[in-house]
Amino acid sequence: MEVIIEPTADAASVLAARIVADLVRKKPAAVLGLATGNTPLPMYRELIRLHAEEGLDFSGVTTFNLDEYLGLEPAHPASYHHFMWENLFRHINVRPEQVHLPDGLTQDVPSCCAAYEASIRGAGGIDLQVLGIGGDGHIGFNEPVSSLSSRTRIKTLTERTRSDNAFAFSTPDAVPHHVITMGIGTIMESREVLLLGFGGRKADALEATVEGPVSQMVPASVLQFHQRVRVILDEAASVKLKRADYYKHVYANKPGWQRI
Ligand code: GLP
Repeated sequence: MEVIIEPTADAASVLAARIVADLVRKKPAAVLGLATGNTPLPMYRELIRLHAEEGLDFSGVTTFNLDEYLGLEPAHPASYHHFMWENLFRHINVRPEQVHLPDGLTQDVPSCCAAYEASIRGAGGIDLQVLGIGGDGHIGFNEPVSSLSSRTRIKTLTERTRSDNAFAFSTPDAVPHHVITMGIGTIMESREVLLLGFGGRKADALEATVEGPVSQMVPASVLQFHQRVRVILDEAASVKLKRADYYKHVYANKPGWQRI
C-alpha cells in the first residue's frame, strides 16, 4: 500500500482527480470503478473542472459503480443512480450506455448480480477502482464479516451504516435495509485501487485498514493483499497511523519517474 497524506481533503481530492485523469488520458477507453458518499465529491468536482477547462475526454470511458439501494428507483433523490448523475455524469461527456450501476428495482437479485459481474468482465475488468470507507471499515456496502472473496450480491446494512446514510433520506426509517454491492473479491480484481479517507471520523477505520491485521471485521483491510493500492488521506484521517511520518517521508522522496 502506498499511503499519501495531504494537508486537506481538497488537496487530496485534486491529487486523486489527477490520478484518474492521467489514466483516462493514457487509456481513453479506461474502465473506472466509482464510489458514492461525501468523500469522492471534491474529486468529482475536480474531474468536472478538468473536463470543462482542460478538455478531459470521458467519451471512451466505461464506469461501474460499487453499489445501489434495493427498492429505490433511479430518480429517487437518495439513489446512487441519482447521486452519480447529479454529481458527475451529467457534467462530463461519458456516454450514458457506458455507465453502469446495479439495478435497485430488480425483481431477480441473483441474476442481476451475475449480470453485473459478467458486464464488468465483458468490459475487460476495472482499471481503477475508487473507494471511500465506512466508519466501520466497509467498502462498497460490504459490511464487517463480509466474505473477503465475495462477489456482487445482496447485503443487509448495519444500523450504523443506515444511520450514517440517513441524511440523504426524508426520515431515518426510509433508509433501505437491503442493497446490491460489488463483492470484496470483485473489488480486489480491479487493476488499481484508490482508497480515499477524509476527516477524524474515519481515523480508526483507516488505522485498522492500513496497519491492523487483515480481517473480515474490517473489510477494507483485505486491500493489504492488493498489489496496487493508493490510500489518499487528509491529515485528520491520518492521526491514528503509527507510521504516518514514514509514509510522508516515502512520498516526499519518491523518485521522479514514480510520480504521476
Ligand atoms: C456508503 C457507501 C460507501 C462509502 C461510505 C462512506 O456506505 N456505500 O461506498 O464509502 O458510505 O460514505 P462517506 O464518504 O459519505 O463517508
